[in-house]
Amino acid sequence: MRAEHPKLEAGLAALGIDVRSGTFLSELTSLGIGGTTDLLRITKHDSIPELIGLLEHHDIPYKFLGGGSNLLVGDGELPWVILQLAKPDPEIVLEGNFAHVDAAADLGRTVTFCAKHDLGGMEGLIGVPGTVGGALRMNAGAYGMQIGSYVREVKLYRAAERKIEILKGNQISFEYRHTSFGPDDMMLAVTLELPSKPFKEILQGIRICNEKRRSSQPLGQKSAGCIFKNPPGASAGHMIDELGLKGLSVGDAKVSDRHANFFVNAGRASAKDMLTLISDVRGRVENAFGVKLENEVVVWNA
Ligand code: EPU
Repeated sequence: MRAEHPKLEAGLAALGIDVRSGTFLSELTSLGIGGTTDLLRITKHDSIPELIGLLEHHDIPYKFLGGGSNLLVGDGELPWVILQLAKPDPEIVLEGNFAHVDAAADLGRTVTFCAKHDLGGMEGLIGVPGTVGGALRMNAGAYGMQIGSYVREVKLYRAAERKIEILKGNQISFEYRHTSFGPDDMMLAVTLELPSKPFKEILQGIRICNEKRRSSQPLGQKSAGCIFKNPPGASAGHMIDELGLKGLSVGDAKVSDRHANFFVNAGRASAKDMLTLISDVRGRVENAFGVKLENEVVVWNA
């Protein structure tokens, strides 16, 4: 999809939108899969309601992209443009135990920045790729913690209301890899309240989590993290492994040899390959265990 109408282009320029025409989504996703479209980078949060109005006026569908680390995007020319927040400077402002963080900030860098200022709690998230906004939207978690536990306030674009709103932490429900945000809501910024902890102690926790992750997950390979959510009381990776499916592939889409709930792009996998592999594995697990695995990865297919 191209944002090419002259009046639209003038409107986008007036809103300070940086248009990157013909962007390859394969370069913006950790799976390295995805076709082309125009990328619209937002430099001012306040421009979003007007931007959405402008796109709708010109019948241009859109999607919001965070860090692209939990996302499987379709192949070829995509039927929507992509909106993404540009990183502001600074991305994080600390105020006592509160960290005010822009949604575009890198999650790992946020964890280490806070740690250096003796603010802990998020050690488990250290190796989770992506932005703070993406982590917030899906309530990312690992090693017994989840980001939602620390959220005190969220600034977001509410798609249903067509305006920017601030929600208090207690107005949002955070469950396992799920939140009460609407599907089209766009995370803009968050205030986290983090417990005080000496840097050295946080660093020790970070090292332990890093070590666990390195020993069980295919970190150097292109993936979207876990493909499926864990069903209540079970591990999807364990079930897929028990069926002997590590290494199963469709084209270059492959079940990781290291962790069976990670599906990797071992070369030039297409979205079609990856979707076929996902559906094949889901079917086999359902036949064997009577459990229908739910995607954790978000699929944007045309
Ligand atoms: N296991 C296997 N074979 C495998 C993978 C796992 O037998 O190929 C076994 C492990 O030996 C272990 C059990 O399954 O006994 C659980 O494995 P693991 O500790 O790796 O945890 P997981 O349930 O597979 C979850 C999260 C990860 C998170 C880790 C650590 C989900 C879907 N996955 O994985 O999150 O990093 O715990 O806390 O909740 C993600 O969400 O993308 C993600 C990677």
